[in-house]
Amino acid sequence: MSVWCNKIRYIWLDGKIINCEDAKIHVLTHALHYGTAVFEGIRGYMGVDNLYVFRLTDHMARLLNSAKIIGLELAYSIEDLVNATLEVIRANNYKEDIYIRPIVFVGEGSLSLNIANLPVRVAIAAFPFGHYLKPSGIKAKIASWRRVPSVSMPIMAKASGIYLNSVISLSEALRLGFDEAILLDIRGYISEGSGENIFIVRKGEVSTPPITASILEGITRDSVIRIARDLDLKVYERDIIREEIYTADEVFLTGTAAEITPVVFVDNHVIGSGEPGPITLKLQKAYDKIVRGLDEKYKHWLTAVY
Ligand SMILES: Cc1ncc(COP(=O)(O)O)c(C=O)c1O
Repeated sequence: MSVWCNKIRYIWLDGKIINCEDAKIHVLTHALHYGTAVFEGIRGYMGVDNLYVFRLTDHMARLLNSAKIIGLELAYSIEDLVNATLEVIRANNYKEDIYIRPIVFVGEGSLSLNIANLPVRVAIAAFPFGHYLKPSGIKAKIASWRRVPSVSMPIMAKASGIYLNSVISLSEALRLGFDEAILLDIRGYISEGSGENIFIVRKGEVSTPPITASILEGITRDSVIRIARDLDLKVYERDIIREEIYTADEVFLTGTAAEITPVVFVDNHVIGSGEPGPITLKLQKAYDKIVRGLDEKYKHWLTAVY
């Protein structure tokens, strides 16, 4: 039995809800060998009256764009994928915080690098999930690996093969006693965390690297920019140099899994006071309310499951 099936009863695969134990693929599946897949990470939050999926349509739109960039043709629309997600959550009857993982992958048939005639398959799994990184603050290391530049890989696509860059960077940071890696782009400017976007606060202003700094265009990043501006904070998308991180008053990471995670230590430097800063805490508090349906103003970001 797969360890996953201790927590998951049903998975959506190629249009059907099937038992978790039956959601198997062959070892000669193309995506396993060459990373020929695109995926999403989405969260569902239990509010007082319902389970809410955060920015579901936006995630599915990014998935289709990722597939388009890689050249994978899907038989499903955004709406089909939204409905399939709701269907699989309801089948499992989840009434708690969950993580949702849709994946579009090249199936089996050949090990040639030519994917033109190979099947494109789609799976959506959801499972109970808590924190990914400590919300009270983490230690990060600037990775010795650089973030893959978009002249070599289409980094705007959330593509599986590209994640080897993140995996080796995170492994290095963990081995050295840190919690997360921060990658520089090929030019030496700050890019992002292994699975998160990054923000800094200096002199009361919030800055985050632009999409031209080899980042994934995060949906949490977009949410935080909008929330911060609604709180009358100045937010800039601009190139950030490494020393600005070391001397920042606050640093935080954003991502579906990481939510808003304060970074209190980078390399051998204490950030600000060494505790999560006031702007980070304010944004964290606002975000936590929004995702659970406790802020009417942002309810359009939520899809109620039941
Ligand atoms: C490399 C990378 N950057 C940024 C993010 C943040 O993106 P989002 O906020 O859409 O989850 C993620 C997570 O999906 C990621 O894997």
